[in-house]
Amino acid sequence: MTRRDSLRHFSTFLAGSPVLSAWQEPDRSLGIDDMLNVFDFDSACKRRITREAYDYISGGAEDEFTLRRNRSAFGKITFRPRMLVDVSKLDMSIELFGSKSDMPVFIAPTGTHGRANPSGEPSTAKGAGEAGTIMGISSSSSYPLNEIVKSATRPVWFQLYAGPDGPGTRDRVQRAVDLGCKAILFTIDAPYFPHRERDLRNRLVRPEVQREVNARRRRPDEESATYGLPARFTSTLTWKFFGEVAGYAKVPVLAKGVLTAADARLAVENGAAGIVVSNHGGRYLDGDPATIEMLPEIVAAVGSRVPVLMDGGIRRGTDVLKALALGAKAVFVGRPPLWGLGAFGQPGVTRVMKLLQTELALAMGLAGVPNLAAIKPDLVAVDPR
Ligand code: GLV
Repeated sequence: MTRRDSLRHFSTFLAGSPVLSAWQEPDRSLGIDDMLNVFDFDSACKRRITREAYDYISGGAEDEFTLRRNRSAFGKITFRPRMLVDVSKLDMSIELFGSKSDMPVFIAPTGTHGRANPSGEPSTAKGAGEAGTIMGISSSSSYPLNEIVKSATRPVWFQLYAGPDGPGTRDRVQRAVDLGCKAILFTIDAPYFPHRERDLRNRLVRPEVQREVNARRRRPDEESATYGLPARFTSTLTWKFFGEVAGYAKVPVLAKGVLTAADARLAVENGAAGIVVSNHGGRYLDGDPATIEMLPEIVAAVGSRVPVLMDGGIRRGTDVLKALALGAKAVFVGRPPLWGLGAFGQPGVTRVMKLLQTELALAMGLAGVPNLAAIKPDLVAVDPR
């Protein structure tokens, strides 16, 4: 008998055995209920969408140093949990700028959701609504703003890339407010377009965004490029422009992309109603610090005057709790809901957000903090190395 014959014989024997005959090849195509955490959604999304789309969503600028640091910095923070606190009722609901959310974890404004799933931002908005949270809508959306807002059942905030064209910016802010957006996230960290080498190697074609509806602004190539840098539409902007927008917007305007106490102070002096500590998910200046590293200095500078929020590297409920302990009022997640959308469409968005909510509840319960007001800086220790 050859080795192969003997193996075949053995497997026939096993198949007939009463114990093992029920055994079947496991189903490797995991479904939404098999997703245990945000990282599972990342892997599922990677399997289900094109490489170009996945790399665009998941990648960062140049060496992706900042992208990694946003994550690794959470590893320097540990909890100082309290015991025998009554945590039988947990409450993480929050109201910020008049917008209510069931959790202090909001969906960050990210561009072109149509790449992740053809159903795009309207699905993300429905997913956010089902999860009971707030969604930031990007200026670079795949769908017109009015269609996205129509799909939302919870408050939405509008992310603004201002052009150098004052009147155009004013029209777009006005339109977003008229459509019902409750706050403006004015992104201030993107004066030039970065080198995202994954996208360059993939020869990524930039998709059509809803410029005519969301972003009536000058095209980048109308702005003169310096040193052959890929132009962006915001390289002429200064705090004066920010102050003008904050002055006419009629809804709170948050400065998104602040990384230093000095800029946080300038933002508040120029009318910012809130700060979003952000390095744009490691997608612009590679070498930026992790946002969680900069959060304490910014909270110390302006936290008594305006709410400070943050994004960058949040993948676990424990990350959220660390950020809240260091003074963030709420956090945004960008890639996680996109991975949910790419892997499973709208239910994926909802499940990602609900998973984070469940993880945060668990972390709060185990750390002895039954509500957001109970979360204080002494809940964490930061490793100085
Ligand atoms: C756009 O701002 C992006 O990060 O891709």
